[in-house]
Amino acid sequence: MFTSGYKGVRAIMSDQTIIRFEQVTKQYDDQTTVLKSVSFEIERGKFYTLLGPSGCGKTTILRLIAGFIEPSKGQIYFNGKVINRIPPNERQVNTVFQDYALFPHLNVFENVAFGLRIKKLKNADITAKVKEALRFVNLEGYENRNISEMSGGQRQRVAIARAIVNEPEVILLDEPLSALDLKLRTEMQYELRELQRRLGITFIFVTHDQEEALAMSDEIFVLNQGKIEQSGTPNDIYDEPINRFVADFIGESNIVAGRMKQDFEVEFAGRTFECVDQGLNPNEPVEIMIRPEDLEITKPEQGKLQVRVDSQLFRGVHYEISCYDEAGNEWLVHSTKKASVGEQIGLYFDPEAIHVMRFGETEEEFDKRLDAYSEGQDEN
Ligand SMILES: Nc1ncnc2c1ncn2[C@@H]1O[C@H](COP(=O)(O)OP(=O)(O)O)[C@@H](O)[C@H]1O
Ligand SMILES: [Mg+2]
Repeated sequence: MFTSGYKGVRAIMSDQTIIRFEQVTKQYDDQTTVLKSVSFEIERGKFYTLLGPSGCGKTTILRLIAGFIEPSKGQIYFNGKVINRIPPNERQVNTVFQDYALFPHLNVFENVAFGLRIKKLKNADITAKVKEALRFVNLEGYENRNISEMSGGQRQRVAIARAIVNEPEVILLDEPLSALDLKLRTEMQYELRELQRRLGITFIFVTHDQEEALAMSDEIFVLNQGKIEQSGTPNDIYDEPINRFVADFIGESNIVAGRMKQDFEVEFAGRTFECVDQGLNPNEPVEIMIRPEDLEITKPEQGKLQVRVDSQLFRGVHYEISCYDEAGNEWLVHSTKKASVGEQIGLYFDPEAIHVMRFGETEEEFDKRLDAYSEGQDEN
């Protein structure tokens, strides 16, 4: 759950805060608002991921942090000072671009040294720093290679070395792995995460790949159409998505319309079920979400829902089984047990597996509601 300091009016900054967005809006012209009053806080030394579909504003946030563009409204703080108009070269930030943006006519050493030469450091210092940076990314001995002689993964590492050699406080990475094939991509996920831990520098990483975000991050910001829908640890966001968008975007989910009858009782698929949610209005319309792995296949009479198997796919670790209940809702089940198409089965689930999502709930209200449940549990 999102517990760091900044929440709308409650603007507390801890020493750990390195970057803060306060109601930042970005408009490119009068028509298009690409960021809509976005507020968040970034803490020192953590790995953050901006996750969301193409066009949601991820790159725009990075460009605002790097100083390539200015906000239309709102404030951006870096170490407690407003930096809205500070030029990129005066910020303690370096960017690793998606296409790496390496200089093809320079060798590996000179690519990494580029920023230090601009800063007019002494040659001996440049050599020492470049060697150190290349060592960090496992490219010792590659100093004299041409960029054209380097593989995709190696170019990626040169780009990272070029960012870390400047010893920035924050490194911004804009979909740096999307050009790599799946195997290399997975390797680089480990490498990047490991590198961030060793360096202790704040990483802000952009991806549209939810599995990548879940695997790598300390904190994820899920973005949609210029807004942060939800922020939190990978576990928080996977286990307690705030709404249909987040539930759908992160992992697979079953979402059906429901009605909260009273505390701990929710109705969907034509039945009433015990749940763990409380504090909603009686008869409030809601959406309920159950993860496919939280549904267990049983004999029809032992299930909480009775369904008919419509299709089945073997996915290696589990079967992915699609079923329909009598009300016409589709239920996706991940099970190590095999079913038969056309068969009537039961689906069993625990009250905790039902996630009740309120329409239009803010993240603050959502966090408060979840906190109340866990406090309730602690008392028992
Ligand atoms: N220079 C620009 N002028 C006008 N619109 C832009 C400009 N740059 C980006 N946009 C628009 O802003 C929105 C967000 O873009 P971007 O931050 O690049 O998204 P993402 O990185 O999440 O794919 C998109 O709709 C994009 O078309
Ligand atoms: Mg982008």
